[in-house]
Amino acid sequence: MHGDRCDRSGHDLPFCLSRREFLLTGGTAVAIIALGDLAWAAEKGLALQRASYPRSLVGRVSRLKVDQPVSFQYPWKDPYSANILVKLGVPAGGGVGPDQDVVAFSTFCTHMGGPLAGTYRGKYKVLGPCPFHLSTFDLTRHGMVVAGQATEGLPQIMLETRGDEIWATGVMGLIYGYHSNLAAGT
Ligand code: FES
Repeated sequence: MHGDRCDRSGHDLPFCLSRREFLLTGGTAVAIIALGDLAWAAEKGLALQRASYPRSLVGRVSRLKVDQPVSFQYPWKDPYSANILVKLGVPAGGGVGPDQDVVAFSTFCTHMGGPLAGTYRGKYKVLGPCPFHLSTFDLTRHGMVVAGQATEGLPQIMLETRGDEIWATGVMGLIYGYHSNLAAGT
């Protein structure tokens, strides 16, 4: 039985965390992730703010080409669930596949929802600059902000592989357009 209904799309979520709560608590965790020190965070007992959703097959490793993103919707089939799946060609935080370089991210800027689809730059492995206020996100470092107005990293879609298949399993970070999409303690 799911708890409060607390995101703008009206989907039931097992747990909810407001944007304010995320800024007060999850922001610390995400900042740690951006530094790439997940082991340190685990040692300190800091919970990573992420939400688990039903698994969804989103691609196949063998069909991806380096620096050629493909789009998919997750966790829901709605306009706010637009993401890219991309093989970076270099190992990345949260990367899967034999080279640990396949990652996925929301394409809505965390500042004011600017559209980031089509802004991937393979030379720098970043998404951006956002057409609204130039925010740019490093896809090798969990979507960390590297320039612009945004203060929150880009939500990363958690991936797993089963052989050649790439499955989305959850979301780490607050998707723009939702009041809350994070589940504590998962
Ligand atoms: S909406 Fe993207 S930087 Fe403002």
